[in-house]
Order: sequence, then C-alpha cells, then structure tokens
Amino acid sequence: MKLFIDDANVRMIEWLCAYYPIDGVTTNPSILARYGTKPVETLKAIRKVIGKDRLLFVQTLSSESDKIMQEARKISWEFKDNTVIKIPVVPEGLRAIEYLAKEGLEICATAVYTPMQGYLAAKAGAKYIAPYVNRIDNLGYDGIGVAKTIQEIIENNDMEAEVLAAAFRNSQQVLELCRFGIAACTASPEVITGFLKNAEVTAAVNGFAADFAQISPKDWF
Ligand code: G3P
Repeated sequence: MKLFIDDANVRMIEWLCAYYPIDGVTTNPSILARYGTKPVETLKAIRKVIGKDRLLFVQTLSSESDKIMQEARKISWEFKDNTVIKIPVVPEGLRAIEYLAKEGLEICATAVYTPMQGYLAAKAGAKYIAPYVNRIDNLGYDGIGVAKTIQEIIENNDMEAEVLAAAFRNSQQVLELCRFGIAACTASPEVITGFLKNAEVTAAVNGFAADFAQISPKDWF
C-alpha cells in the first residue's frame, strides 16, 4: 500500500519523508489555506523537499468543467511530472475528469463519499479514487466499507483506477485498509506519527540500551 502525507506543513513533510516510507503528499484547498497566503509557493516548497520522484497532489478550485480543465492544465504545467490533479466527483468535475484523463493527465477523483461516485470516476478515467473514510463514518455510514466496496468495483470490472483512501483519524483505520489490499492511503502527520506511538515498544527499546549501559565499554567499539 502506498502511503501519502495529507498536509502542507513543509518542515513536517521534510521530516516525515526522512523517517517514514512516504510516497508523496496530497493537498486540498483547506489544507493549503492553513499554511499561509501563497499556496503556489507552499506547493513549490513541498516539491523541493519531497524530490521529483514522489507524487504531489494538487486540487482544482473551479466549479465549472471548462474552468476545472483550464486550471488542471495550468497546475500540470506549473508542477510538471509526478503531479496528480485532484478533482471533486460532482457532475462538472466528472466531465472534466473524462476529458483530462483522455489528454493523459493523472487525476485523483476526490470528495468521494459513495461507491457510485467511485464507479463513475473510475469509468471516466481517474487514476485514483479518494473516499473520505472518517468523514463518511461521521455521517453514520461505514467509511472503511465504502473504500472496500470501491476497491471491489474496480477489481470486478477490470478498471485501471486505484483506491487512495483519505481522511483518517487513527492507525487502525489505515491498517484495516492495508490488510484489505487497498492501493494507497493518505493521512495527516498526527495519524502517521501515531503509527509507531507505543509506550511498550519505547520501554523495550530503552530497556536494551539501559541493560547494555551496565557493562563497560558503553558502546561496541
Ligand atoms: O484531502 C481530503 C481529505 O483528506 C480530507 O481529510 O482530515 O480534512 O477529513 P480531513
């Protein structure tokens, strides 16, 4: 399963990429708005710290399909290779996804709350489908279930798309989808750093160091 950071804090992204096996960064307008008034500069800084090979996801803002397409082409030109355009799955977005996919742009269909949105976006040619797991849970539905259903729709219909599940609140949600074989997850730095937060593990590791420190010399050589 690919693992992405769902954030735009450049220093945090740099640190996470140095310590965790990260495949790229996903952003959306709300995330970018949290980190200053120059989103293009923020995205360029993110590209610099993640390198040219990791994926960078950038979302369009327009609500009409022609404008979404113009925006997508501009984003693609500005940020070049390994940039994926996120487009919400509403009728105008779906139309743009179909055109842009035919042009060869890599699209992540986003704001996915239902399996039907996932099916339509995959059929329109989106490369990634992003169900919002925790937001679906908060509506009283089953977010993990929606992600799994979309994965089954893709597999059972020989579609090319991959599920990139988003909007997590804890490690368990991510692990459940990893176990199921979902292609990718994107999570906030808080959730990612929580993956290895375990007091027992920390105590065990500290115990090794403390025991070894009883002898002399204190290091191997
Ligand atoms: O990028 C969209 C999605 O990840 C939203 O997540 O945490 O704002 O619900 P969240």
